[in-house]
Amino acid sequence: MIPAFFPNGTQGVYHGGMGRGSYIGVFDSGVGGVSVLKRLTELMPHERFVFYGDSAHAPYGDKPTDWVLHRSRLIVDGMRESGAKAVVIACNTATSVAAATLRAESPDFPLIGIEPALKPAALAAHHDRILVMATATTIRLDKFHRLAREYGSRSDIVTVPCRGLADLIETGDLDGRAMRDLLERYLSPYRGTIDGVVLGCTHYPFVAKQIRAIVGDVPLYDGGPGTARQTRRLLEAADALAPASQEGGIEFRSSNNTPQQLELYRRFYRMPLD
Ligand code: DGL
Repeated sequence: MIPAFFPNGTQGVYHGGMGRGSYIGVFDSGVGGVSVLKRLTELMPHERFVFYGDSAHAPYGDKPTDWVLHRSRLIVDGMRESGAKAVVIACNTATSVAAATLRAESPDFPLIGIEPALKPAALAAHHDRILVMATATTIRLDKFHRLAREYGSRSDIVTVPCRGLADLIETGDLDGRAMRDLLERYLSPYRGTIDGVVLGCTHYPFVAKQIRAIVGDVPLYDGGPGTARQTRRLLEAADALAPASQEGGIEFRSSNNTPQQLELYRRFYRMPLD
């Protein structure tokens, strides 16, 4: 278990506790980004991470895009100005809405986004029909349309905007009746007719087991591991990886800065992922 190295419980978007350029910022609308954080810490155990969940404003998927851009800018700028050496947008929705704009605003700063893992799903053998679960915003925006055009010739792509699912995952009750009912509603029409499922929202890997219980034993594709590899590649290229002598760590922060919220992030961090 990676130790926490920041004092907990401070307010605001972020104010740094370490020297300049010493940590990797990771953010999401809420707890979902923890699924990406896990991949990042597995791959780069010597790095120091600050995870920021914007749970007071979740979900992003139902919000106007200019509002998601505004929140994303505030968080990324706060992290950058307080000494982050890179920021990972651990949210498909915020990436679709904000990544290109924020990169154009600070072209030299390493900003890594996540996208639905349609490419590995489409390139895998014998996948004739792929189901993409994501927020309505991710599915609606250009970024996804471009991706679907690029890989849509290889497989049929069926999109399912899962309104309310990230919200329900935020409650932490993953095995209750409400979760079963919601997943049944979205997924049961496809039972037995799909070859793979893309988890196009970073919250969804935490209900992989519950999704499989409905769609059957098909491969699930999550963009988290690819995002972690891309982050490492960028840091390596910039010669900015932490030395192996450094002790890694995680600081959890939230716009809903209560002990219960931070404990939820830690609980999700301890959950095994597929
Ligand atoms: N976890 C986010 C994503 O990857 C968004 C969930 C939400 O806030 O709607 O899209």
